[in-house]
Amino acid sequence: MCGIVGFAGKKEALPILLDGLERLEYRGYDSAGVAVVSLDGDLQVKKSKGRLSVLREILDTQSPLSGNIGIGHTRWATHGEPNDTNAHPHVGQEGKIAVVHNGIIENYLEIKKSLIRKGIVFSSDTDTEVIVQLLEYYYRKKSNLMDAVYAVLNRIKGAYAMGILCSDNPGQMIAARKDAPLLIGYGEDGNYIASDVTALLAHTRTVTYMEDDEVAVITADDVQIFDRDRFQLEKEKHEIEWDVSAAEKGGYAHFMLKEIMEQPEAVRKTISPRLADGEIVLEELRDAKELMKNISRIYIVACGSAYHVGMVGKYALEKMMHIPVEACLASEFRYSEPILGESSLVIIISQSGETLDSMAALREAKRRGSKVLSIVNVMGSSIARESDYVLYTWAGPEIAVATTKAYTTQMVLLLMFGVYLAKQLDRMEQEEYMAVTRGLQELPEKISIVLSDIDHYQKAASRYFNHNSVFYIGRNLDYALGLEGSLKLKEISYIHSESYAAGELKHGTISLIEHGTLVVALATYEPLVEKSLSNIVEVKSRGAEVIAMTTELTASLIGSQASEMFVIPKTHSLLQSVLGVIPLQLFAYYVALNRGCDIDKPRNLAKSVTVE
Ligand code: M6R
Repeated sequence: MCGIVGFAGKKEALPILLDGLERLEYRGYDSAGVAVVSLDGDLQVKKSKGRLSVLREILDTQSPLSGNIGIGHTRWATHGEPNDTNAHPHVGQEGKIAVVHNGIIENYLEIKKSLIRKGIVFSSDTDTEVIVQLLEYYYRKKSNLMDAVYAVLNRIKGAYAMGILCSDNPGQMIAARKDAPLLIGYGEDGNYIASDVTALLAHTRTVTYMEDDEVAVITADDVQIFDRDRFQLEKEKHEIEWDVSAAEKGGYAHFMLKEIMEQPEAVRKTISPRLADGEIVLEELRDAKELMKNISRIYIVACGSAYHVGMVGKYALEKMMHIPVEACLASEFRYSEPILGESSLVIIISQSGETLDSMAALREAKRRGSKVLSIVNVMGSSIARESDYVLYTWAGPEIAVATTKAYTTQMVLLLMFGVYLAKQLDRMEQEEYMAVTRGLQELPEKISIVLSDIDHYQKAASRYFNHNSVFYIGRNLDYALGLEGSLKLKEISYIHSESYAAGELKHGTISLIEHGTLVVALATYEPLVEKSLSNIVEVKSRGAEVIAMTTELTASLIGSQASEMFVIPKTHSLLQSVLGVIPLQLFAYYVALNRGCDIDKPRNLAKSVTVE
């Protein structure tokens, strides 16, 4: 949520900032801005409402902001509507200090009131402006920028990742972090800050992750990092494996389509290092043998699509292990007083590893004495670092706001974990174990088969894109799958869509089914196909138009009742959802394309949700 980039080096900062912001735009895109300081201390700021392209156009018409040090920001509004004034960077009333900030300052009103009483005039509605006004206020009193920074950090409450420039210190950029991601990049021509590694891949892959309460002083040649007591720290550097091309569109019209098409490879990369001679080997859990033996309950906690993976996990893991598994929304989990203890395992699933609700759930779980295993895509992210055990999905950078390859790799990894644990606990017959592991090995190939039918899903979307309301129905694993299909459709096409457990329809929702209502009926979970068929007949006899998805085994049975069929290859029934989600992603993508939507950057959304 919101993107920050900063550079202190030996080159002009502006092109680097704009390039970085372009790569970060998926984090927020309602306004953008940059600030650059020249060697003689001229602080120049340009910002504007709208996409980065608007800012670029404005900058093109003016003499360029010149200087080797700068900060940039792309915004997802929390406090104050998206407009030029509320865009970052914010500058204090003396025009000396500029700040970009991600997160929320919870006590901003109280600070704002006290500064107004001291005669300080605010120009924006943002919480961020209190940071910069307070900084200038303390700087005036203390005449030392670092003293002022620490005074501000002691005063503000809430979450922040911030970049600070001061015209009196033109060679220096300051960064600070608490509960919002921020990393430092070390390049040949200078040093960087960014909220997300994708902003830096074109310049460097050597990074340090800032921890909560750390403050960094960054110049062209040096990076110094301090803790909350101002002791200097020796921090570890990490090498990022992602390639810069992985974060580019590579000829596709949208990142979403590229990422859908990358799924065979992403799934292969996630599975193959963990399968040796037909055995699932989770090296990451080598030290967890004792814990694994004693697990009596699993909570899978996540948000959005990652929660939908958790729903698949609930059904599948219970079948594999015969212990209770609950899927919980992270935003609810920590307020629900979960009954946790040493024999409960909490699994947090997150692509970004930065989702605030998931992070808070993780901390709550640890506070209540449970071990936390996370399934995360972004290496070194906050959730990964705070978990007891981490399983990384090797999906590569995911840029489109609507998740696709992260979802499938999360699901594959969760299922692998389930099979692994079932084996450890002696809950799965050897024959079944071998059938699932065989199924896992075949998944990338079968995903490619589904993708080869892309034209079919495109045509279906062009037939149905005009519907204003769509229902997804399914039972058991198909219900979990429908939740994701429905979310995919609504978030990028803005069509109202709901997902229901098919057997639940008759308890109320069926009253909404009328002539022409579009129902996507999912019947891929073989043990319940006949029951799903009855539900299809129920909606059809009330006039619904039905798109049915099933496997090649049951296509003729289901096909007799549907106006449109999505037929996918058969795999092990516990893995079927991995294949089932692909047509739903493609359908949503092409529906949104037909409706002229901004697919990679849907309205009101952002890729990484770091506010509560
Ligand atoms: O980064 P995370 O996996 O924690 O993100 C969780 C959700 O915000 C995310 O899955 C969201 O629902 C996507 N936009 C869905 O496509």
